[in-house]
Amino acid sequence: MPERKRVAILISGRGSNMVALIEAARDPNFPAEIVGVFSNKADAPGLAFAREAGVPTAFRSHKDFASREAFDAEICAILAGWNTELVCLAGFMRIFSTGFAANWTGRMLNIHPSLLPAFKGLKPQQQALDAGVTEAGCTVHWVIPELDDGPTILQRTVPVLAGDDEASLSARILAEEHKAYPEALRLVATGAAVYRAD
Ligand code: GAR
Repeated sequence: MPERKRVAILISGRGSNMVALIEAARDPNFPAEIVGVFSNKADAPGLAFAREAGVPTAFRSHKDFASREAFDAEICAILAGWNTELVCLAGFMRIFSTGFAANWTGRMLNIHPSLLPAFKGLKPQQQALDAGVTEAGCTVHWVIPELDDGPTILQRTVPVLAGDDEASLSARILAEEHKAYPEALRLVATGAAVYRAD
C-alpha cells in the first residue's frame, strides 16, 4: 500500500468533524493518517478527544503573539514538527494571514455547512433558513486566502424541511459533514482530487 498522507487537523471547538476524520483514519486502508491536532482554544472539547485517541495535540492562543503573522508562523512550525503534508480545517474559527493561506494553498481543506458559494461566513444554516431555500448542505473545499472560498472538492445536500429551525437544520447538515469530510480527504490523499485554481 502507498504511504499514507500525513494530515493535521485544526480546530477551535467541539471537533465532531475532527472525530469523523480520526475514526476514518483508524482504517489502515484509509489513505491518510492523522498526525496531529492543533487548537487555538485551550478548552476545545475536540482536544480532549484527540488526546484520548492518542493523537499528538498542540494548543496556542493568538493572544500570546504580537501579530496574526507571528501566530501563523507558530502554527507553521507546529505543522512542520509533525511533518504535515495536508491540513484539514474542522471548525477552525480564525482567519489566516494571506501568507499562511497562500503557503498552504493546494494542501489545505476546509468544511463549511452550506452549499458554497451560498451563505459564507457565520451562521450559514440560519442564513439558508432566512433565504427560504429548499435544499441546504455542506461543502469541502480547498482553502484560498479569501474566507469560505476556493475550489469545491465535494458537496452533500440535505432537504430543508417545514418547521426546521437552526438547530434541526444544523444537525441534519452535520450528519452529512461527517460523511463528506472523510470522503473528500480520501479523494485528495489518493490524488483523485487535485487543486486547480478557479
Ligand atoms: C461545522 O459545522 C463546520 O462545518 C463549521 O463549524 C462546525 C464545527 O463543528 N465550520 C465553519 O462554519 C467554517 N466557516 P465541529 O467542531 O463539531 O466539527
